[in-house]
Amino acid sequence: MEIINRRQRMASVARKVRREQDRTIGLVPTMGALHDGHLSLIREARRMCDVVVVSVFVNPTQFSLDEDFDRYPRDLTKDAAILTDYNVDYIFAPTIEEIYPKDFSTYITVSGLSEQLEGVSRPGHFRGVATVVTVLLNIVRPDFAFFGQKDAQQTLVIKRLVRDLAFDTEIVVLPTVREESGLALSSRNAYLNEGERRAALVLYRALSSAKEAYAEGERSGSRLASIVQATVAAEPLARIDYVSVADADTLESLERLNDRTVLIALAVHIGRARLIDNITLNRKKNGVAANA
Ligand code: PAJ
Repeated sequence: MEIINRRQRMASVARKVRREQDRTIGLVPTMGALHDGHLSLIREARRMCDVVVVSVFVNPTQFSLDEDFDRYPRDLTKDAAILTDYNVDYIFAPTIEEIYPKDFSTYITVSGLSEQLEGVSRPGHFRGVATVVTVLLNIVRPDFAFFGQKDAQQTLVIKRLVRDLAFDTEIVVLPTVREESGLALSSRNAYLNEGERRAALVLYRALSSAKEAYAEGERSGSRLASIVQATVAAEPLARIDYVSVADADTLESLERLNDRTVLIALAVHIGRARLIDNITLNRKKNGVAANA
């Protein structure tokens, strides 16, 4: 495994793999502080591709000034040790200047999709994500790039970006990895103390209540949102940012769900952390209670 810091070196290594060795490349973009969620993506990349590149870069342009860019957990030594065990070929860990050279002035905006849900609370967030992912895809030019359903809106933004700008990369989306308690793994869980960690279980509990109501036939978007809201409101350490019940492809807010695949997503502040989670439901998969 080689750790690469320079974009030129990364680009030339990837070019060589593609041209001279005719091998496929999988890219797993991350901000480090790796956990089992990231590792599920890396495992799948390892299975599908000849050469696996994991990027580790805490991307400043996707954080607003009042967010946690400065205190976001960083430990490249630990991450590198984990990635060696996973048989990763290259870690791309650039400095900020490598990704954003002096006078950097080109940004990518995925209109519409970026302005919903997370985009309301985090204006500019997906502009930063789309821009850094564009730069990473152009440096590595992977055959496949791997993303987690944990960040459902991010996967939609990136799929749209890749289609609209005709990137020659297939986007692979993998399910959310959870602790046994239901808590979705996240680098930001590190901000939680013991009590807050218990409180954080409310996100999945709230989504599960909505899932149950759906299985029992509830098809009103606002009533499902109320169920999620009421569950979170009962947890004193939690403060809701948003709850959304929307079409899983367009993020259009839904009242009558009918046969649409629906994304229920929420963001909740607990202590210093802002946590997000989501589930998707559709009639085929979730329409009837499992043991009905
Ligand atoms: P980061 O939060 O480090 O996440 C990297 C990838 O891991 C994303 O695709 C994310 O959806 C996935 N992931 C995180 N937690 C997961 C979980 N519990 N289960 C499954 N997958 C999970 O997302 C980013 O970084 C950045 O926005 C990035 C795409 C790297 C651009 O800077």
